[in-house]
Amino acid sequence: MKFATRAVHAGLEPDPTYRSVIPAIHQTSTFAQPSVGEFVEDYDYARSANPTRSALETALGELEGGLGTSFSSGMAATHALITAVCSAGDHVVLPADLYGGTFRLVDKVLTRFGITYTLVDQTDLGALAAAVVPGATKLVWIETPTNPLLNVVDVREVIARVGADAFVVVDNTFATPVNQRPLELGADAVVHSVTKYLGGHSDTVGGAVVVRDPEVHERVRFVQNSVGAVPGPFDCFLVHRGLRTLHLRMAAHAASAEAVVGFLKSAPGVVDVRWPGFSGMVSFRHPDAIGIAQRTKLFTLAESLGGVESLIEVPQAMTHQSVEGSAAAVPADLVRLSCGVEAPEDLVDDLHRAIGAGA
Ligand SMILES: Cc1ncc(COP(=O)(O)O)c(C=O)c1O
Repeated sequence: MKFATRAVHAGLEPDPTYRSVIPAIHQTSTFAQPSVGEFVEDYDYARSANPTRSALETALGELEGGLGTSFSSGMAATHALITAVCSAGDHVVLPADLYGGTFRLVDKVLTRFGITYTLVDQTDLGALAAAVVPGATKLVWIETPTNPLLNVVDVREVIARVGADAFVVVDNTFATPVNQRPLELGADAVVHSVTKYLGGHSDTVGGAVVVRDPEVHERVRFVQNSVGAVPGPFDCFLVHRGLRTLHLRMAAHAASAEAVVGFLKSAPGVVDVRWPGFSGMVSFRHPDAIGIAQRTKLFTLAESLGGVESLIEVPQAMTHQSVEGSAAAVPADLVRLSCGVEAPEDLVDDLHRAIGAGA
């Protein structure tokens, strides 16, 4: 079936008891056992499994084409996957332009446990191949489009270069499975901050890992159960509800971004306008980046992205402080927009006023 049909139906079966079309939210910490060790499927304790979470995991797996696990945040998902795949002494290749929190996790936390890393511009395939250390590189982390510079990395080409030697992960938060399905391109795993487009309404924080190999899936779930970074049932319900309109929202986000980019290309003082041609993420540079971000009215000044409402931020001063001083540092005059699904002309008017007022 087509993506839109799967997005609407994935993981949802009517409630078996009352036939409610949307199943009940299982807001519970535990499950009654009629006799010792007797329980339904995996449901003995809600850190290990919960039916509301399982429904979301089925849907995530179906939309990305693999086996899904949902987490309490995108960073929890990233941590679980890296620690499920890597051990002390292993080397990881990271993109030189990436979400600051991913860099911080590897640089400040995982290196203390014996993991080493190299940052490399993954659009330069020669440099990427050179960054792989034979016998030591266990994992190659791809983010595409990158946050915040919106560089696009060719997943197939990266896999062709390094896929035989390393486990390849794609952070698919910015593209979403509407625009890019990394497992179909040959990647071993996908990670999401479902806080963003998959949830889509800026009302919950969550993460997901989807993998191809059942054995890796078991390891991810083992780490999750051991560490405990599980999402609550109501958060799972919200994300699952978001998934059902993902295809519609992504088309509207792209229409907004296209209109905004059309305006920015000839706006005074604006240079280096970036948009990958899909999704609602746009970035540009302007000497008055902070002034613009403080003057918009419809674009709310806030971290995060991917919700139905438009947001604006200055990455160097906000989301990407953790990469300051590293090779992944971002320019101070960069503005990042998350174009929402409002009327595109209203978004353009808002930017027009904010940029014009400072000129
Ligand atoms: C590309 C990307 N990956 C991962 C994350 C981390 O997700 P979370 O904030 O849900 O932990 C973010 C958060 O901004 C992100 O932008």
